[in-house]
Amino acid sequence: MYVSMKDMLWHAHKNNYAVMAINCVNMEQAKAIIQSAEEEKSAVIINISPRQMKAHGHGDILAPMIKGMAEKVSVPVAFNLDHGADLEDITAAMKYGFSSVMIDSSSYDFEENVRRTQLVASLAHGMGLSCEAELGHVGMAKEADNEKVDLYTDPQQAKEFVEQTECDCLAVAIGTAHGSYPKGFVPKLDFDRLKLLKETLQRPLVLHGGSGAGEENIRKAVAYGINKINVCTDLFKHARIATAKALEENPEIDYMDLCIVAQDAMKEFIKSYMRVIGSSGRYDFDKYEGPEFD
Ligand code: 13P
Repeated sequence: MYVSMKDMLWHAHKNNYAVMAINCVNMEQAKAIIQSAEEEKSAVIINISPRQMKAHGHGDILAPMIKGMAEKVSVPVAFNLDHGADLEDITAAMKYGFSSVMIDSSSYDFEENVRRTQLVASLAHGMGLSCEAELGHVGMAKEADNEKVDLYTDPQQAKEFVEQTECDCLAVAIGTAHGSYPKGFVPKLDFDRLKLLKETLQRPLVLHGGSGAGEENIRKAVAYGINKINVCTDLFKHARIATAKALEENPEIDYMDLCIVAQDAMKEFIKSYMRVIGSSGRYDFDKYEGPEFD
């Protein structure tokens, strides 16, 4: 089933679990993600960033492929533009057939972030797509030090932001970061802030930087109100490690078999992550009929 993120994230919000949003740049990753969702009976979100689209996974090729694969399974699958920065990328994703877009104007000041997000949310809603936005700023893991609390999301400001922009879900900054953390570093998450954000906003919240954040942190983040967890680095790492091992064991391995090795390793990782964040077995839900903006 090819859907927007809206109903699945409201269901996760109402039932206190989270859905994975996994970056994908090719057919093997799309197959690994959708097969994992089907086998786990879980909703899933497939993400791709503008950078990944330009470098390899072109949206005009991936969108119809993912839509076709999603329509063959019974679980809900959304395809979301991750970190859309400008209107050019966002309208291109809309044209390609994405079911959801993220507008990331988190590096602008509050007013400009509101202005840009309002525009994209109204465009997305007019086309039946969901819209994610970010307030506060989730940085890069290689620079992580848990000291940049001034970039964390402020709950009162977030309330104003959500009311003004009508975004469907909000990515919040509470201590995670994108990419690989320095060796041995486990981020310290601000759970008090997350609890307050959930109480204040009463809607689906998103955690970026779901790789290497530690299982205990992830479980607790879900318990405190996170409903969508973005994962990229760890998925790519599992594929790379499995590929390297297969090549070491058999340097003459057929290329197609190598692709399948990577796909199977990614599936194993995705399925275990789905169990940790509680989306397994929760795919069968009704359309969310609660408050909506559009
Ligand atoms: P990681 O690469 O740290 O998993 O972050 C992914 C992400 O947040 C994409 O938006």
